[in-house]
Amino acid sequence: MADLRSEFLGIRTPNPFWLASAPPTDKEYNVVRAFQQGWGGVVWKTLGEDPPIVNVSGPRYGATWGPDRRLTGFNNIELITDRPLEINLQEIKRVKRDWPDRGLIVSLMVPCEEANWAAILKRVEETEADGVELNFGCPHGMSERGMGSAVGQVPEYIEMVTRWCKQHTRMPVVVKLTPNVTDIRAPARAAKAGGADAVSLVNTVNSIIAVDIDTWAPQPTIDGKGTHGGYCGPAIKPIALHMVAEIARDPQTRGIPISGIGGVTVWRDAVEFMALGATNVQVCTAAMTYGFKVVKEMIAGLNDWMDEKGYTRLSEIIGRAVPNVTDWQYLNLNYVTKARIDQDLCIKCGRCHVVCEDTSHQAITATVNGVRHFEVIDSECVGCNLCVSVCPVENCITMERITGIDPRTREPIPDTYGNWTTHPNNPNAIREAAE
Ligand SMILES: Cc1cc2nc3c(=O)[nH]c(=O)nc-3n(C[C@H](O)[C@H](O)[C@H](O)COP(=O)(O)O)c2cc1C
Ligand code: SF4
Ligand code: SF4
Repeated sequence: MADLRSEFLGIRTPNPFWLASAPPTDKEYNVVRAFQQGWGGVVWKTLGEDPPIVNVSGPRYGATWGPDRRLTGFNNIELITDRPLEINLQEIKRVKRDWPDRGLIVSLMVPCEEANWAAILKRVEETEADGVELNFGCPHGMSERGMGSAVGQVPEYIEMVTRWCKQHTRMPVVVKLTPNVTDIRAPARAAKAGGADAVSLVNTVNSIIAVDIDTWAPQPTIDGKGTHGGYCGPAIKPIALHMVAEIARDPQTRGIPISGIGGVTVWRDAVEFMALGATNVQVCTAAMTYGFKVVKEMIAGLNDWMDEKGYTRLSEIIGRAVPNVTDWQYLNLNYVTKARIDQDLCIKCGRCHVVCEDTSHQAITATVNGVRHFEVIDSECVGCNLCVSVCPVENCITMERITGIDPRTREPIPDTYGNWTTHPNNPNAIREAAE
């Protein structure tokens, strides 16, 4: 049995699976049920000042689906908690008292004034919660009021508010970042400069999920009108992974603890986030899609995989892939691959031929000697992987590294590593070599 125990900012939990701040963590009833199913920790649904905000009473969610109707993306126009502050605080205090072995961080969002932050921090401290997460990410509703991503998109504000919070509390401060920026390193650096103990990311991606073409209104539609909302779920995982990796490998933020969020649905997603530097993961959409019991599969799957691979602790996984994330210019241009089709697995659907013929390099046959047959023409194949991406049969097409003469270029493939920085076609490389 692998040891799944996790430690994030000194908060010890039985596993690295936390629920993100959202409806699953909006009240004691939910959080207790979540802990009963095995979740390691929760970030409580974002608290604000009284009087509480008011949510719409019509549809607040939208979704995208794959052909099997499985949810691929999720969208919401919900705001922060709409329950009174005092009720939330009492429940948080009780839950923390009753579940001391689980993590409980409280998400916060108040107007951008030092006194407001100081006041709410004082009240959260009295609950004995393990820490606070500053919600600088919500892209809808609250941002128009100068909060959420309106703060998260301005590094100076992030630094300022984080600094206030560090001055006004003894609790660890996590800064939750919005992905609605061009370069995630700027807000992450600002959080660090302000003294943040950790960052968590991502919050939701600004979006209109669909348009109803009968009523001509964005969805979800409230009395004929719609508004932009926050996109999450499996579709945003690639965006989140990239941003986590950028922070993990940036010399200015390297080492800051990261809580990875965005599309975590199965144990493998969590491993990917941890491999790119996250200490733990937070989950929202998967719980909202499948219920709290999904955590059981996450725990069992992670455990089985670690056992199979011989990993005993999470620390053996965390950050493992970070050294292998690089910039394009450092990729090995002498690494040459060709597609290979397993004729025993091929169902002769022809999709690989069509896409390679129409949009890639005309490197897959449709017929050979008048017979329907799909085979790679090495002298045309650039190794792009498009056919692998569209083939409906898993592992039917694989990429194989070749050495010797490349049949496409008819040139010998150097057996050394060579990248763009020194390539003869790179004008800068030529200039530098001449200097
Ligand atoms: C309905 C809904 C409400 C949310 N409310 C909050 C919130 O109050 N505070 C917050 O920081 N994030 C909120 N989020 C964002 C999630 O915490 C999380 O960052 C995002 O959904 C990405 O994770 P996922 O792909 O696992 O859903 C909300 C998300 C959803 C779907
Ligand atoms: S790897 Fe690209 S170029 Fe090669 S056969 Fe597949 S689609 Fe065509
Ligand atoms: S896409 Fe896959 S299954 Fe279809 S013809 Fe090509 S190799 Fe065969």
